[in-house]
Amino acid sequence: MKREHVELLDQSRILDAMPAAARRELGSLTVLDEVDSTNRFLMQRAAPDAAGIHACVAEAQTAGRGRRGRPWVSPSGANLYLSVVRAFATAPQSLQGLSLATGVAVARALASLGVAGIMLKWPNDVLLEGCKLGGILLETTGTGTQEPVCVVTGIGLNVDMPDAAGAGIDQPWTDLARSGSNPGRNRLAAHVLAELLGAQRTYIDAGFEAFSGEWRALDALRDCVVELDAGAARRSGIARGVDASGALLIEIGGRCERVLSAEVSLRSAR
Ligand code: BTN
Repeated sequence: MKREHVELLDQSRILDAMPAAARRELGSLTVLDEVDSTNRFLMQRAAPDAAGIHACVAEAQTAGRGRRGRPWVSPSGANLYLSVVRAFATAPQSLQGLSLATGVAVARALASLGVAGIMLKWPNDVLLEGCKLGGILLETTGTGTQEPVCVVTGIGLNVDMPDAAGAGIDQPWTDLARSGSNPGRNRLAAHVLAELLGAQRTYIDAGFEAFSGEWRALDALRDCVVELDAGAARRSGIARGVDASGALLIEIGGRCERVLSAEVSLRSAR
């Protein structure tokens, strides 16, 4: 597919397109030509006593990180690679729902840019027309027992993926240009950042409960037969949404089991 004109990332254009309140909340926004991973870049700065909220976007990642140790295909000038670091004064287990809340923030940002039909696949794949449009990776430092947990939230969204790079992705994927709704990467970064900061504030005040209704409405797997992949053991069940903490509920043999993100991967068996 022919690629659209490449709009380079520009710090002032991103900041100008953010609401003033979100802009004031942001301690810094770093724009890089190339980095191994925007998450790793901010993990370096992450310290439980670090003040403020810092964001980073890059034109290209040479070692983009996906969930479960997978690489994230990150060619130059094509997509959005965005990370934000922030300290959360809360126990790590209550951060369980934060990655799901992040998915809701991304869906809100895309909706605000006129991208219709976004769905979320537990825990936080961003889907468009059933294909993967983006992913979210949360990484933490600090124990959370005595001190705040520092969370780096990484968001990757496919905007105008070159065919050659896309050939390296091992699952059905799409991008915004293919769906005819490319808002431009600077506007996209601004909307995602603003929604993310707002969602994090809400999460600090009210936890996942504040997002659970919206998450359920975006749930791509609800009532679908799915396959759980827990290493050696593979089991099938029916996805029944999430509980109040963000754990996936799977009906197996008439009983609902809670599934935590660290334990399994999930594949739709439909
Ligand atoms: C997934 O596997 O679905 C999660 C992908 C997360 C990719 C983003 S791109 C920006 C940030 N930096 C990284 O190295 N990974 C995340």
